[in-house]
Formats: sequence, structure tokens, C-alpha cells
Amino acid sequence: MLLQTDKLTKKYTGSHGLTAVSEACISLDSGETVGLFGESGSGKSTLGQMIAGLLKPTSGSIYLDGKEIRMPYRGSCRRQIQILFQHPETSFNPALTLIKNMTEPYSIYSLPCSYESLLNDLSNYGLYEEHLYRTPSQLSGGELQRAALARILTIEPKVIVLDEPTSMLDVITQAQIMNLLKEYQDKHGTAYILISHNRVLCERTCDRIYNVEKGIFTEEKSLSV
Ligand SMILES: Nc1ncnc2c1ncn2[C@@H]1O[C@H](COP(=O)(O)OP(=O)(O)OP(=O)(O)O)[C@@H](O)[C@H]1O
Ligand SMILES: [Mg+2]
Repeated sequence: MLLQTDKLTKKYTGSHGLTAVSEACISLDSGETVGLFGESGSGKSTLGQMIAGLLKPTSGSIYLDGKEIRMPYRGSCRRQIQILFQHPETSFNPALTLIKNMTEPYSIYSLPCSYESLLNDLSNYGLYEEHLYRTPSQLSGGELQRAALARILTIEPKVIVLDEPTSMLDVITQAQIMNLLKEYQDKHGTAYILISHNRVLCERTCDRIYNVEKGIFTEEKSLSV
């Protein structure tokens, strides 16, 4: 098993002490797409952010390749789990041009990068030189989400948490993003956790689905595909 959570729990402190995720046990294999499907506020993003190392669990464990991982993620673990957000602008520094935003992971992870290879790579995502010198606010939502995806995929993670990655986009861009993800997964065996309240998208995309209700994660026995 590539990734597993064991009784992962998040209680938000505050007036009501809400348990957003309650003892979630989910698993994910290489090359697999697992869906987290549930109503707004059921705890999907909270679980996704704990897995991505952005939110500290209250209790429980996360295992990657059988080894327990804890916040703050460091070294290869930090690289191996990435997250794509619903709002693409969340992924970028608004003050930097796209080229500066795109080259950031190359320096963080010491990856080789040339201007030509970056341009060539971006063209696979429908992005060209003209886009590189604009800031995020000067790009469309679809362009930004494709750039966010391109940036994540250069890092070659083992797991990507996709938190409603296409819900802000029109159907054509939505299909482009899902196709790019599928092609990449077929080639690299990357595993995806797809967070969505779109049932059709979940059934079309996922190998398995966890139903999420008030912080409780239950695997569906069979998909009605
Ligand atoms: N930082 C926070 N502090 C307190 N409560 C929070 C915080 N973040 C989320 N919550 C609460 O935790 C619960 C789960 O939120 P979460 O964002 O995980 O839901 P979700 O399933 O992703 O919903 P959506 O589909 O609307 O994105 C909600 O009741 C939410 O209000
Ligand atoms: Mg959410």
C-alpha cells in the first residue's frame, strides 16, 4: 500500500470544538484514484490537507510506503505528496510572474531546468511564452489551473490530492485537466485522491470511493459504474 491513514482525526479548537475528521482509515495504492465524496462541510478538505502535510492531525497516523510521516514534511516526503487546490490562484504568489512561479519548484528541489524545456513542457498544458510574463491575476482560471498542474507534475510526486480541481472551471477546461491527469497517471503510476461533490465525475474517474458524512469516511463496496 502506498499511503494509509490510521484513525486520523482533526478537531478544530474553537467555540464548538468541532471534530471535522473522525478516525479516518483510508488507503491508496500506486496508480489508483480514490474519491472522497460527500456534502459540503463533511471534512474532505480537512483530510486532504492533513495528508498533504498542511494541517496537523489531532490524533492518528499517516503512512507513506509503510513509514509513518509527520508534519512538518521534509526531504523526499515533502516532494512525494502534493495538492492541487480548487482555487488555482491559491497555488501562486500573486506578486510574481508566471515564469517566476513556475521555476520555484525547480530551485526548491534542485531539478534541472532550461527555458526551452520549460516552454516545451508548458505547451503540453496550452501555455506559451506570452503567458510567462504575466502575473496570476492576468491569467484565466483555466490557464492558472493548468499551470498549477504543470508545476506539480514537474515535481513527480507519488500522491496528488486533488481538492475539487475542476469545480471552478468550464466543462471543456474540466475535461482537459482530467485528461492531462489520466495521461500522466497512466505513464507514471501516480496515485490521486480526488475530492469532489460531483458524483458523476467521481464515478467516471475513481477506482474506489469513500463516502464522507460528518467526518466519517466509509468505503463504498461497489461502484455503480
Ligand atoms: N480552520 C478551521 N477552523 C474551524 N473549523 C473549520 C476550519 N476549517 C474547516 N472547518 C470546519 O470543518 C468542517 C469540515 O470542513 P472541510 O473544509 O474539511 O469540508 P469539505 O468537506 O471540504 O467541504 P466543501 O465541500 O464545502 O469544501 C466544516 O464544518 C468547516 O466549517
Ligand atoms: Mg473542501
